[in-house]
Amino acid sequence: MTTKSAAGFSTLSDLEQAASRKTSRSAWGYVQGGAGEESTMRANREAFHRRTLRPKVLVSVEDLELGTTLLGTGVSAPFYISPTASQGLLHRNAEAATARAASKANILAAFSTLSSISLEAIAKAAPEGPRWFQLYLQPEFSNTKKLVERAEKTGYRAIMLTVDMPVAGTRDRETQAGSPLASSIVLGNGREVVRPLRNPTVDGGHAHIREEASNTWQVVDRLRETTRLPLVLKGILTKEDARRAVEHGAKAVVVSNHGGRQLDGAPASLDALPEVVKEVRSQIEVYFDGGIRRGADVIMALAYGAKAVGLGRLVLWALAAGGEAGVSKLLYLLKTDLATVMALTGRRTISEIDESLINTVK
Ligand SMILES: Cc1cc2nc3c(=O)[nH]c(=O)nc-3n(C[C@H](O)[C@H](O)[C@H](O)COP(=O)(O)O)c2cc1C
Repeated sequence: MTTKSAAGFSTLSDLEQAASRKTSRSAWGYVQGGAGEESTMRANREAFHRRTLRPKVLVSVEDLELGTTLLGTGVSAPFYISPTASQGLLHRNAEAATARAASKANILAAFSTLSSISLEAIAKAAPEGPRWFQLYLQPEFSNTKKLVERAEKTGYRAIMLTVDMPVAGTRDRETQAGSPLASSIVLGNGREVVRPLRNPTVDGGHAHIREEASNTWQVVDRLRETTRLPLVLKGILTKEDARRAVEHGAKAVVVSNHGGRQLDGAPASLDALPEVVKEVRSQIEVYFDGGIRRGADVIMALAYGAKAVGLGRLVLWALAAGGEAGVSKLLYLLKTDLATVMALTGRRTISEIDESLINTVK
C-alpha cells in the first residue's frame, strides 16, 4: 500500500485537513461550499448520525465479499466515484489521476462534462477502467449529442444525466473565496461544445436563466433515441420524479442533492432514499450520494436499498492530498473500513445488507 508520504494522509480522519493544506483558498471554497446556509449540506452528514446500526454477532465473517455489479459491470466495491468538475484545480494530473486510481482498484468512475481534460484523454489514461460520462445539457441539442457520441465512441458505459441543475445554486462561500470557476474555467471537452454554468440574470421582475434551463422530460426521450448507452438520472429526491424516470426509460437513478450545492432546504439524501427505493427499486437500480465519509455510511445507504453509493468530496480531498496515490489510498482505506463494518455487523456479502441493519434514533 502507498505510504503516507505518497498519498499525503494516513487515515480517513486526516484526509480533509491534508487536502486543505495543499489547496488554494479559492479552490477550497469551491470544493467545500454548499448552497444557501448550507443546511442541506450539513443535513447530509447529520442524517447518518441520527441512525445507528443493529449488529448480528457470532456470524462466521472469515471471508467477506465486497464486489457487486452496476448496470451489469462487475466492480470491486459498492461505491463509485461521483462526477466532479474541474479536478485540475486540485492536482496537476486532474481526472487522469482519478481515472488511473479507480481503474487499478476496479472501481467505477463517472467524469463530468466540466472536466479539466477531455473525455478522450481520461479514457486514454485508464483504458480498462469502467467509466460513465456525466452529462450537462448544452444550449444546443447538437452539442449535447456530440458529447454523447464522443463518450460512446471512447468506451464510456453509461450516460449519467444530471437533472438537478437548471441553474447553479447560490454558493456564497465560493463567491467569497473568488470562485475559480467563474472566470478562468478550463473546459477539457472544448469551449465550442461546452458552456460553463451561469447564474440567472435578473431584470426588474424577470429572471432569465439559460437556454438549457428550458428542458423537460422530453429531453430524456430524445437522449434515449440518440444513444444505445443506458441513462442514469442523477439528482432525484422524490418518488414522483423517480417514477417519471422509469416511465422515460432511465435504467437507474441517483438519489442526490448534489452534495448540498443546489437547493438548500432539500432533504438529506439519506432521508430521501427510502421513498425512492420503495417506488422504483423493483424496476431499476437506485444509487445514492451525499455525505459518504466512512464504511458505516456506505452500509447505511445500502441497507436502505441503494445498489451503490457515490463519493464526491472524499475523492477531491484525496486527489488534492496526493494525486493518484491519494485516490488509491482512499479507495483502499474505504474498502478496508467497509469490510471491518461488515464483519462487525455480521454481514458477509453486499446482498446480506438489508433494512434490518438500521435503527432510527428519534
Ligand atoms: C466541487 C464539486 C464539484 C461537483 N461537480 C459536479 C459535476 O460537474 N457534475 C455533477 O453531476 N455533480 C457534481 N458534483 C456533485 C457530486 O457528483 C456529488 O453529487 C456530491 O459531491 C456528493 O456529496 P459529497 O461531496 O458529500 O460526497 C460536484 C460536487 C463537488 C463537491
